[in-house]
Amino acid sequence: MLECFSLDMPNGNLGNMRLIRTRFRLGALLSTAFGGLLVLLVYQFVDFQTSSMDLRPLVSTELAGETVSLPLRKFEWQSQTPHPLDMKYPYPYPFLLNHPNKCEGARGAPFLLMLVMTRPQDVGVRQVIRETWGNETLVPGVVICCLFVLGLPPPLFTKELQTLLEEEDKEHGDLLQVGFLDTYHNLTVKVLMGLEWMARYCPNAHYVLKVDGDVFLNPSFLVWQVLQPNGPPRPDFITGYIYRNKGPIRNPAYKWYMPPELYSSDKYPPFCGGPGYVLSGSLALRVLAVAQTLKVIFLEDVFVGLCLQQLGVKPTPSPFNAFHMYSVKYEHCAFHRLALVHQFQPQELLRIWPDFQRVNMTCAVA
Ligand SMILES: *[C@@H]1O[C@H](CO)[C@@H](O)[C@H](O)[C@H]1NC(C)=O
Ligand SMILES: *[C@@H]1O[C@H](CO)[C@@H](O)[C@H](O)[C@H]1NC(C)=O
Ligand SMILES: *[C@@H]1O[C@H](CO)[C@@H](O)[C@H](O)[C@H]1NC(C)=O
Repeated sequence: MLECFSLDMPNGNLGNMRLIRTRFRLGALLSTAFGGLLVLLVYQFVDFQTSSMDLRPLVSTELAGETVSLPLRKFEWQSQTPHPLDMKYPYPYPFLLNHPNKCEGARGAPFLLMLVMTRPQDVGVRQVIRETWGNETLVPGVVICCLFVLGLPPPLFTKELQTLLEEEDKEHGDLLQVGFLDTYHNLTVKVLMGLEWMARYCPNAHYVLKVDGDVFLNPSFLVWQVLQPNGPPRPDFITGYIYRNKGPIRNPAYKWYMPPELYSSDKYPPFCGGPGYVLSGSLALRVLAVAQTLKVIFLEDVFVGLCLQQLGVKPTPSPFNAFHMYSVKYEHCAFHRLALVHQFQPQELLRIWPDFQRVNMTCAVA
């Protein structure tokens, strides 16, 4: 299906071309969606199997040599038998898909840079986000820039998925792909590479939102109620759902299990829950700087908390119940009074979005 791209279009027949293009778009969208789904299904199977199969990950230089021209870097990470959950960071991971000028538009530095964490195979999720809360023009009068951060696809599917990702990026121009294996236990690397992109290509963004792909987001509330563009600058500002007095889970059966070898203290510092938190641009740069000096742990939100502790910065409480870490049933007025709800499926997001956008409904002020 993707070969359509190389079809030579006869010149002069614009109507026909438009038709073909429309057809192609539809075809591409469908094939992307189905391809993504297929890859996802197969990947989940493989993901389940990999622990026993011990597949060697494809190093990004192999990929880079084949699909994009980048300075080849040595990718061997030399260290004495690292813990399996240790991350290679800091490390000069290359940006395989990049948009260095994305932030420099005529509209000036963005007020809000959204860094959306999705996996390479989440093609459909990204499309739904683009059509809903990821739309950069949703909040009039405020410059928003939305980019998807991802790593390398699982080894078995690298080639197929990489071609799809390049098509997707050609169409939308909003993927930041970084040369590390995209796994749950590398999420901290993903977030830090998002911040590295910001530091390099978008250092004047007023605020940076780190957000996962499985959320409902209300950008208007986030901008006007939480960030308040007309208020004074807040260099030490970070907010979200604040976890306090949490300690590491030491039971290996849990997703958030933290081996004592990786983090020995029995307390975490206060931190903003991973599904979505927002911080000022200047704090983002300082978090990134201090991150280079600390031992990186895979719980990305806790790690940002550790950076804040090091910087002597405390999270700022958000408006009451603005950030929800667990799913909340959709209700028009309630959703207009909050910023984020975690655990929102893309189909659900698409279903409620038209209703959410209806603006003529009068909701009582909370
Ligand atoms: C984004 O919103 C604008 C209106 O604000 C609309 O015209 C545009 O089609 C939307 N983009 C997408 C990808 O849905
Ligand atoms: C993280 O990414 C690196 C670089 O691609 C890879 O070697 C490593 O296996 C990944 N770590 C985990 C825990 O998946
Ligand atoms: C306003 O909302 C009501 C009730 O949801 C709906 O019937 C009506 O068509 C809407 N009016 C406009 C102008 O959108």
